[in-house]
Amino acid sequence: MGETFIEEMKRMSRLSEAERQLLAEMKPVLEKHAPQIVEAFYAQLEQFDRTRDILHAQPGRIERLKGHLARWLIRLADGQYGEDYHQERYRIGHRHVEVGLEPRFVIGAMSFCRTMIAPIIEQEYANDPQKDARRLALDKIMDLDLNIMLQSYDDKRIQQFLEVTGFSKELFENMIAGAAG
Ligand code: HEM
Repeated sequence: MGETFIEEMKRMSRLSEAERQLLAEMKPVLEKHAPQIVEAFYAQLEQFDRTRDILHAQPGRIERLKGHLARWLIRLADGQYGEDYHQERYRIGHRHVEVGLEPRFVIGAMSFCRTMIAPIIEQEYANDPQKDARRLALDKIMDLDLNIMLQSYDDKRIQQFLEVTGFSKELFENMIAGAAG
């Protein structure tokens, strides 16, 4: 079997064994700060009409989501980032496609997470010579998550297009390649 999506992307970003180790060590810090990040995250999403509408579309949704997001944050310290990690993150992306959330909000929200996490690393690892390495490693994992979640959008949209038009995937891909010259 060829290289999997997640193996290839880890190799492309040069996520090293040492970085995976640094990330795994950061789990207690993520656990400690998750509640505060989660509160800020949903307070931020309340500031935009589109995200507020989606959050309030179902009673109890925000409370449920707080638990989901805290678990998501803590699993950034997984340390292995294998196939089960890929599947979990892909399913999260798929859920956003199902609720009709436009991808720009996921990208914006990821950027917000980085903004929240940066000062926490600064403070928690103030005297740690690996501080910058930790932040870079976390950035790589957040990029990996974004990559996986955005792939869900692409897959879902192509699937819908194929269903509506009756085109085969091969025909569609040949058309795109032809149009691009
Ligand atoms: C960094 C970006 C984000 C992360 C990591 C994230 C994380 C998650 C997770 C872990 C779930 C649960 C998926 C499951 O059921 O398996 C979820 C679902 C969901 N997320 Fe997000 N999310 C992000 C951005 C957003 C944004 C910007 C919104 C805007 C409103 C949003 C709204 C939702 C909704 C409505 C659901 C489904 C909730 C339900 O099942 O009732 N998410 N998200």
